[in-house]
Amino acid sequence: MVVAGTYDPYLVALSIMVAALASYTALDLGGRVAAARGLGRPVWLAAAAITMGGGIWSMHFVAMLAFIMPTPMSYEIGLTTLSLVVAIFVTGGGFYVISRHSGSPLRLVLSGIFMGLGIAAMHYIGMEAMREHVELSYDRLFVALSLIIAIGASTAALWLAFRTTDLGQKLIAAAVMGLAISGMHYTAMGGTTFAAHGPVPAARGYDLDQTNLALAVAGTTFVILASALIASLSEQKRAEEALREAQANLAHVSRVTTMGELCASLAHEVNQPIAAAVTNADACLNWLARDTPNLEKARESAMTIVKDGMRAAEIIARIRLLCKKGTPQRELVDVNEVIQELIVLLRSHITRYFISVQMELAADLPQVSGDRVQLQQVMMNLMMNSIDAMKDVEGKRELAIKSYRTGNEQLMVCVSDSGVGLPSQQADQIFHAFFTTKPHGIGMGLAICRSIVESHSGRLWAADNSPRGARFHLILPTKSMKA
Ligand SMILES: Nc1ncnc2c1ncn2[C@@H]1O[C@H](COP(=O)(O)OP(=O)(O)OP(=O)(O)O)[C@@H](O)[C@H]1O
Ligand SMILES: [Mg+2]
Repeated sequence: MVVAGTYDPYLVALSIMVAALASYTALDLGGRVAAARGLGRPVWLAAAAITMGGGIWSMHFVAMLAFIMPTPMSYEIGLTTLSLVVAIFVTGGGFYVISRHSGSPLRLVLSGIFMGLGIAAMHYIGMEAMREHVELSYDRLFVALSLIIAIGASTAALWLAFRTTDLGQKLIAAAVMGLAISGMHYTAMGGTTFAAHGPVPAARGYDLDQTNLALAVAGTTFVILASALIASLSEQKRAEEALREAQANLAHVSRVTTMGELCASLAHEVNQPIAAAVTNADACLNWLARDTPNLEKARESAMTIVKDGMRAAEIIARIRLLCKKGTPQRELVDVNEVIQELIVLLRSHITRYFISVQMELAADLPQVSGDRVQLQQVMMNLMMNSIDAMKDVEGKRELAIKSYRTGNEQLMVCVSDSGVGLPSQQADQIFHAFFTTKPHGIGMGLAICRSIVESHSGRLWAADNSPRGARFHLILPTKSMKA
């Protein structure tokens, strides 16, 4: 005898929520597989598969509990367990395939097929577990349709999820995957006829046990999914931390390399005040050696020696600061001061190549919250590039540095030169790592500059300078970062 069932709308909604949340968590965990190394890979893969398989399974049972039938329902334990295991392994296969080379369309489709089959296999095995009490028959058209929905929507969800890290798109992907799971289930149910083995008892009313059971299944699933999500997020935080550290190390190496290049100029710069101190010390001794020592003049000379010594110590302190390896620190930085300090360090280098420096620094420049050494490194890279570009040009060699306040709480620094100009047809590549046109260049300077500027929520770009040379623009936010 055919038995008709009805749906509890709240539990149907709950089942769809389970499907969507499980999809979000599983896709998030699945996204970690490709990036993981060594033992991390199978662990993330297993976590994604268990989450996905477990989520589908849980959705199925919440949905079955939402389906109110007049006959009592129970599930055979063996087949019920099998349906969970199959779902975990088959969807795990899907994650395995897509995590190898997520870009390939063939792998995407294959992975979508695995996911869809995993969802469908779980459903139909789960239905078989009910055979003891009811006779089931399926409409072939609905079976085909349920498979198409499961595979089609899974493929679409995987395509969305594995091409982006954007939260909005990941949420859409989770919704589509949730649609694959719940759409498959309810379509398949639409084509399923239940027939009771014996006479149908009177229709049951509202069954509290059934609702409680559904809530318990869904609640347990939510707790498991939330723990998986927290584990995944903390791993992401750790990975971001490691990336930041690697970037800081790279920036440090590049800074020290540049300081190495500047070695001769820096030695000259330090030597100058020392030589002046020696001259002044001589003068001081002469004033004292007189028949009537001129104490006033001797004191003046001694004071000049103190100033010379302090100048040398200051230059050495700046060099040490740039060579030091430290973790990035946020403080209020006066960008004009950073530029002026660098000009002192680069002075000998600049005069060696007969370069004239024009500075127009705005007096009312607001401070930026950022890492002083990193910002110094950005300015140093830009100035060193300009000097390199002008080394061999005939005619006027001019390095112009301007700073000004722009609207919307930002400041702008412009570094322009009259050098050889940006490499033609490759201007967009100069910020790529290892792009260099110099025989001894590494090509990391601008890549590091951009990553530092972006970590300060700013922007850095290049343009042609007129009548010749290159111009670099740097924008940094001033107020929003102060918090
Ligand atoms: N001011 C400039 N004028 C002309 N070309 C420039 C200028 N600044 C950068 N470029 C071009 O961009 C390329 C990349 O610059 P980047 O600073 O990243 O590396 P690099 O200076 O070649 O090497 P390094 O890693 O030692 O800094 C340079 O090789 C050069 O071709
Ligand atoms: Mg450079």
